[in-house]
Amino acid sequence: MDKLRITGNGPLHGEVRISGAKNAALPCLTACIMSPEAVTLTNLPRVRDIHTMIRVLEELGAAVELDGERVIIDAAELKSHTATYDLVKTMRASILVLGPLLARFGKARVSLPGGCAIGARPVNLHLEALEKMGAKITIEHGYIDARVDRLQGAEITFANVTVTGTENIMMAAALARGTTILHNAAREPEVIDLAEMLNGMGAKISGQGTDTIVIEGVDTLHGHTHPIIPDRIETGTYVCAAAVTRGDVRITHTRPEYLKRFLDVMRAAGLPFEVDADCIHVKPHNGLKAQDIQTQPHPGFPTDMQAQFMAVMTQAEGASAITESIFENRFMHVSELNRMGADITVKGRTAITKGVTPMSGAQVMATDLRASASLVVAALVAKGDTIIDRIYHLDRGYCDLEKKLEGIGALVERIR
Ligand code: EPZ
Repeated sequence: MDKLRITGNGPLHGEVRISGAKNAALPCLTACIMSPEAVTLTNLPRVRDIHTMIRVLEELGAAVELDGERVIIDAAELKSHTATYDLVKTMRASILVLGPLLARFGKARVSLPGGCAIGARPVNLHLEALEKMGAKITIEHGYIDARVDRLQGAEITFANVTVTGTENIMMAAALARGTTILHNAAREPEVIDLAEMLNGMGAKISGQGTDTIVIEGVDTLHGHTHPIIPDRIETGTYVCAAAVTRGDVRITHTRPEYLKRFLDVMRAAGLPFEVDADCIHVKPHNGLKAQDIQTQPHPGFPTDMQAQFMAVMTQAEGASAITESIFENRFMHVSELNRMGADITVKGRTAITKGVTPMSGAQVMATDLRASASLVVAALVAKGDTIIDRIYHLDRGYCDLEKKLEGIGALVERIR
């Protein structure tokens, strides 16, 4: 199992280019199987989850031509409608094939995604919505088995905001008979991007980005070429890395407007930075002030930035209360950060971080994608060497991590 050695090396400096968003690319990849014509995606991030999703599509029988950041998916003939346990267990986002398979073929068999480190992560909201659209769903031997002649448009209210739930049902509704209205829909940029791609394929979707999305079903979708939007969480992670080392870093090929709430909090903490259309320039500072946050669905503070932000708060003056209101167990990074010298106590769903605490390098272990990113941020400002174990978590969602960090002056080495 690979490890990462990071040695604290003072302020980061230089320029880092942001890759395509993993959480936009995953639903866009499954949307490709909704058309009998080939679909091209560009700016695809080369991360493990994307390769896993491509294998899921190949297992269904799609022809895939991958060339760097460009992929052509031809799903004219699919030979299977089953996403097997072996692939789904490594990536729960495989549930995103359920809507597309039902919409186009009227049948799907998807292994029920297990929970993961951050929580139980049920998919009940996905299944209830599909049943409202006429699908017959049974769960046996750990598989979701769904059948329908043709999905029927329906008016659906999600009991709570679900990102992939909104994406799955939006795709299902695109080829349903009649109109579907989604209430309490997710407003994430990745949801908007998927809607734009589906409309480019001939779908009729409006309201994306608000909490009410209207989808008028059509009979078929045609080919299209779609660029994947920049990764807002990768962007935020590099803002944290620059901030915690008091560096001077330009973060390019990104969309600052996707991170408004997070950037507002960083500005309130005293981080100096400038933004233009596709770049965030973080400037050196001589101290930050602790801020309280509560994670919320977009446009609130992103739960996927919570762990990385906590690492920054170890270096901010005062006590920061961080409340995680989306997932029930997303504080696994706390014990590892405390082993590096942080002073964080957890009470229920709130973690209190008292800064400033000098951080020292240690052997730590990654438990999930964003907790691992938090350990990287802390390691950059820690004295001495930090060895991060189980970094396959990082490889799932961060493209060329070592290269990008080295490019801005970090001392980082992958130990095979
Ligand atoms: C998406 O997961 C992201 N993954 C997650 O990013 C992100 O943390 C999450 O949204 C929240 O923003 C992808 O987009 C591939 P949810 P998703 O459905 O869709 C509960 C990362 O780090 N819920 O919005 O699975 C659920 O348990 C990953 O890249 C139900 O109860 O999250 C959670 O508490 C981690 N029933 C809350 O809703 C359901 O049917 C939000 O989950 C669905 C969800």
